[in-house]
Amino acid sequence: MKPRLIVSRQMPAAVAERIRAEFNCPWPEGRDMTADEVIAALSEHKADALMLTSHLKFGADVIARIPAHVRIAATCSVGYEHIDVPAAHARALPVSNTPDVLTECTADLTFLLILGASRRAHEYESIMRAGWRRGFGLGEMLGSRVWGKRLGILGLGRIGQAVAARARGFGMQVLYHNTRRLPEDQEHGATYYPSLEAMLPHCDILSLHAPGGARTARIMNGATFGLLPRGAVFVNASRGGLVDEDALIAALESGHLFAAGLDVFHNEPAFDERLAKLPNTFLLPHMGSATVETRTAMGMRALDNIAAVLSGKPPIDPLWT
Ligand code: DGY
Repeated sequence: MKPRLIVSRQMPAAVAERIRAEFNCPWPEGRDMTADEVIAALSEHKADALMLTSHLKFGADVIARIPAHVRIAATCSVGYEHIDVPAAHARALPVSNTPDVLTECTADLTFLLILGASRRAHEYESIMRAGWRRGFGLGEMLGSRVWGKRLGILGLGRIGQAVAARARGFGMQVLYHNTRRLPEDQEHGATYYPSLEAMLPHCDILSLHAPGGARTARIMNGATFGLLPRGAVFVNASRGGLVDEDALIAALESGHLFAAGLDVFHNEPAFDERLAKLPNTFLLPHMGSATVETRTAMGMRALDNIAAVLSGKPPIDPLWT
């Protein structure tokens, strides 16, 4: 008998195919479900496992309602602040994520944000789509150079390091702040700052790669944006919760920030549309990992975690606190 699985969101074709082959799943291609619908489906289908994504908030209240026959909740994401892991731990429900496989694509997209924001991609694109009919003077519509700039990275973990590797190709000087300094051989020449506040005045471009959650909530606010040099570019491909969006909008409107490139927002998908009305933003709908290759790898990794637990082994990517 195939193990029973519930998948809370639509999956790439190859992942759906594997689900069909290896699991008994009512919607192998996935379904866009609410947390309540997931709980109901888990009971109705007597599921052994749940594959979810970061669009679902699994707080302690929801975790308490997961039926006891569910043996693992595998999130198809590297971030896991949408899950109350200690609550799952308390009821001995293993939880796993999908690290590593999305590192390079998220770093690629970070550079799309850096380049898009610095080089006014949204404005140039809009001009073309409206029918470009007048050439610009040499002093008009100028962007901000990326090559050779100082790039500050908040969170030099897996994705931060992949961004730093790309930055070297752009002749950039890389600065970083982590709670703890990395061993020198992992720094690849980046300069460590023991505090964010000390690093910010030296960043021409700031890119966030720290996890979400209470410790980093609104770490970028009026005071910290104020420490960036005037004309800095701000980029976020981590989590919207790290940013006070009112303060970001104020910094963009005043010109303190030249531009912002954002893939993540405080409220998703119902993001603050004031950001879309500003000319100096370059906005993407949380697509860091959205390539066929990476989304497929993420789905496969989540299924590997599920298969491990259902065959009596520990998850490959356990999230224990
Ligand atoms: C992740 O994997 O954490 C991405 O941001 C998608 O949620």
